[in-house]
Amino acid sequence: MSVSEAALVAAAREARERAIAPYSHFKVGAALVTAAGRVYGGCNVENASYGLTVCAERVALLKALSEGERDFAMIAVVADTASPTPPCGPCRQLLWEYCGDIPVVLANLTEIKGRHQMRDLLPLPFDGRLLT
Ligand code: THU
Repeated sequence: MSVSEAALVAAAREARERAIAPYSHFKVGAALVTAAGRVYGGCNVENASYGLTVCAERVALLKALSEGERDFAMIAVVADTASPTPPCGPCRQLLWEYCGDIPVVLANLTEIKGRHQMRDLLPLPFDGRLLT
C-alpha cells in the first residue's frame, strides 16, 4: 500500500507533537515510510548534555531499522518554521546508508516548503562501496 506525501507529512507533524526539546525549544518531527507502506514516526529527543540529543530523522530511522525494515520509500521532516528544516549532516549520512536516494519532503505546520533527493543532499558520499 502506498502512502501519499500529504499523509507522510501529517504523520511527521503528529510525531513532532511528541518532541522532547526543553533546551532548544525547536521541535522537529519526521516520518519515514517503507516500500511496503509502513510509517515510522520520530521526534527529536534532547538531553542536558546537549551532545547526546538525537534528531527526529534518526529516531524514525532507528525505530524502523530495529523493527527489521530495510526498504524505504520517502521521508518527511516538519518544523514550525517559515524556512524548511533539512536533515543535519549525521542524519544525511545515516539516511543515505540505509535509505539510499529517497525523496525528502520538508514541511512546516501548514505547507510543504521543499522537495529534495538524498543524492542532492549528500553529494560525493562516503559509503560502503568505498570499503571494498
Ligand atoms: N533537529 C532535528 O531533530 N532534526 C533536524 O533536521 C535539525 C535539528 C533537532 C536537534 C535539536 O533537538 C534541535 O532540533 C535544535 O537543533
